[in-house]
Amino acid sequence: MAGLAVNIDHIATLRQARGTRYPDPVAAALIAEMAGADGIVAHLREDRRHVQDRDVRLLRQVVQTRLILEMGVTPEMIGIALDVKPDLVTLVPERREELTTEGGLDLIVHRDKVSEAVENLKSAGITVSVFIDPDVEQIKVAHRISADMVEIHTGTFCDEISGPRREKAFADIVNAAKVADKLRLGVNAGHGICYTSIKAFAGLHEIDEFSIGHSIVSRAAMVGMDAAVREMRALIAGL
Ligand code: PXP
Repeated sequence: MAGLAVNIDHIATLRQARGTRYPDPVAAALIAEMAGADGIVAHLREDRRHVQDRDVRLLRQVVQTRLILEMGVTPEMIGIALDVKPDLVTLVPERREELTTEGGLDLIVHRDKVSEAVENLKSAGITVSVFIDPDVEQIKVAHRISADMVEIHTGTFCDEISGPRREKAFADIVNAAKVADKLRLGVNAGHGICYTSIKAFAGLHEIDEFSIGHSIVSRAAMVGMDAAVREMRALIAGL
């Protein structure tokens, strides 16, 4: 059964919207774990728009499952990761003006920089994943630069409601997952997955873990974090 890593960024977004001390993403992480999350994800962005340094350090102390730090490939973030020592770092592209991570990291263009980051983080005992588009050439580079895992960008597929673009996007994900698995890379998937689109992944057993944030936090606003995580967990168990 695939795992579920719950991204708590948007609990922090809500807190930052009013500059209050609540809601606390650390509290949300603990509830998510009690509801069955297999890992907690936080994206420490360069502009600190949601998750703060304090959150990452507290999460490191209290998370009982696995702490997954998403971050851009910058000297500042690599320094923080080497200090905090999350269980897994997922390297992502980052542009200040984007609403969320838009597209995967281009390993062909940024190969040297990413390769050096992978080496630094791995030598500190941190498992490293790279967030990439479902593209076989990107998967091959991830393997060549010795990343431990890939996270396949599912956003293009999830954003399309129906039609040939959706079908093509899903076929690309299936192909990328199979190639990555053959190369013995760990395979995670994430971005844009909701309570409906998760069902499309039934039978795609190459995926080790789903990384899901926005839809879970949105549902949590309606039914509570515990119920929101349990529901997603049950959907993944049924895939
Ligand atoms: N994976 C990566 C690399 C991301 O950047 C994000 C968004 O922070 C997610 C997964 C989760 O995406 P969503 O919030 O759409 O579930």
